[in-house]
Amino acid sequence: MATDLPPDGKPLDWNTRMEISASAARGLEYLHLKMKPPIIYRDVKCSNILLGEQYHAKLSDFGLAKVGPSGDETHVSTRVMGTYGYCAPDYAMTGQLNFKSDIFSFGVVLLELITGRKAIDNTREKKEQNLVEWVRSSSIISFYLLYWAFRLVKKYSILLL
Ligand SMILES: Nc1ncnc2c1ncn2[C@@H]1O[C@H](COP(=O)(O)OP(=O)(O)OP(=O)(O)O)[C@@H](O)[C@H]1O
Ligand SMILES: [Mg+2]
Repeated sequence: MATDLPPDGKPLDWNTRMEISASAARGLEYLHLKMKPPIIYRDVKCSNILLGEQYHAKLSDFGLAKVGPSGDETHVSTRVMGTYGYCAPDYAMTGQLNFKSDIFSFGVVLLELITGRKAIDNTREKKEQNLVEWVRSSSIISFYLLYWAFRLVKKYSILLL
């Protein structure tokens, strides 16, 4: 997913992008809901999502993974780690990590898949360098993204979203 296209390469079609999103979401679902104890992955980003046969996505790089909060705890307090552009703002500000931190980063991956832009792209003009900020600043783009998110959820019933 992170590989830039060669000059004669074609972008991935929408179905393939949806399949990749859905299989990456299943990986996160497994870590969050099925693992015992549940795990927060903490480094969801395109370069950590490796693609196997038929674009089946596999999460890689578990170096930052952390056991999630248990019992009545809502979060675990920890040093802020992760990757700029993907990190949930509340976690970045407070160091309080929870499962939703991964979901935020996964949302950034979805934005990348839908727009074809990188989470951080320093070659663009200033207001378009940070993908999340750029999307937030444009209501037409937000509407377009909501439309695609809706299609994705409808097709795969991704409860994580
Ligand atoms: N087993 C693998 N097979 C194919 N490509 C891989 C494999 N492991 C990593 N890559 C690719 O190699 C590149 C470098 O990966 P690497 O994990 O070292 O750095 P990164 O994911 O960009 O950043 P970070 O160090 O924060 O994880 C990425 O594009 C990644 O997708
Ligand atoms: Mg990596």
